Amino acid sequence: MNTPVKVAVTGAAGQIGYSLLFRIASGALFGPDTPVQLRLLEITPALTALEGVVMELEDCAFPTLNSVEIGDSAEHIFDGVNLALLVGARPRSEGMERSDLLEANGAIFTAQGKALNKVAADDVRIGVTGNPANTNALIAMSNAPDVPAERFSALTRLDHNRALAQLAKKAAVSVADISRMTIWGNHSATQYPDIYHAEIGGRNAAEVIGDQSWVENDLIPTVSGRGAAIIEARGSSSAASAAAATIDAAHDWLHGTPEGDWASMAVVSDGSYGVPEGLICSYPVTTSDGNWEIVQGLEINDFSRRMIDATTAELAEEREAVTGLGLI
Ligand code: NAD
Ligand code: LMR
Repeated sequence: MNTPVKVAVTGAAGQIGYSLLFRIASGALFGPDTPVQLRLLEITPALTALEGVVMELEDCAFPTLNSVEIGDSAEHIFDGVNLALLVGARPRSEGMERSDLLEANGAIFTAQGKALNKVAADDVRIGVTGNPANTNALIAMSNAPDVPAERFSALTRLDHNRALAQLAKKAAVSVADISRMTIWGNHSATQYPDIYHAEIGGRNAAEVIGDQSWVENDLIPTVSGRGAAIIEARGSSSAASAAAATIDAAHDWLHGTPEGDWASMAVVSDGSYGVPEGLICSYPVTTSDGNWEIVQGLEINDFSRRMIDATTAELAEEREAVTGLGLI
């Protein structure tokens, strides 16, 4: 057995937590030879519900689950963690725009950024799922000056997976035949799923599909509106698919993207592709040994340029808003 890994999950008694915890505990992230120590953060009123989830975790008798600790103090729960998955936030309800959530969630991510800065392990990686994910990650990052900025990322893997599924359906292929999908920008309605660099069985996906109108009028609205469509249908936001994407993103970050492929991850911009520096923007990235690199040298056509500019303008507005609120 390897050394145990300490994984913190916030909002652990929530919908996503109910799927995510069991997958991490069963070895989906670190495999069968690495014990996992789960450290679960909740707000005080949700701790009783969380105790019930812990009973269920125990009842699964997962050989890889080494220990579970729960609490409502970020400093205690984040102590020594190697991976922190920040899921806890107020989910968007029907009719609510994600920008409405900025203020409500700002306070949570300020406090959690400070706590991570103080007590997390030196090798910590922090993945933010709670919405508005990009800007929450920016707030946490800005409040953790001693943690390198590249250790923070926000989740756009669900959008990436949604785009893979839609493209596979359109091309009548398996998702396994598709590589190099890209989500640019914000995890919001302005995000840009880009298939101009994607490949289907090694051939350029946009050429295989040969239908710009499908890209503009079907793929992009379906993927960018999927979160809202699920809320409308289920009455609550996506949970199992969000947990699966949180696992996929952390898995690739820690263990590397497959040879010849890349993943979409929202990471701090270094100005690549004209995105203002310092924004947490979704890019195509390759990863290895827990580090990511933005894929360079992609040719950006006029349509993509407009789409990338629009979504990064929204990110810049969110940054201005939280700067105005004194959160960063
Ligand atoms: P949920 O309401 O079921 O659970 C959220 C949990 O967070 C609750 O149990 C709540 O008590 C807890 N929480 C609130 N404040 C907290 C704090 N300060 N510290 C610790 N825990 C706290 O919501 P959910 O469906 O699990 O979704 C969680 C978040 O993930 C939401 O913001 C949702 O919008 C977001 N989400 C993101 C994606 C994505 O792709 N990035 C996809 C789906 C959902
Ligand atoms: C999703 O993409 O399913 C979530 O981010 C929910 C939402 O608020 O859109």
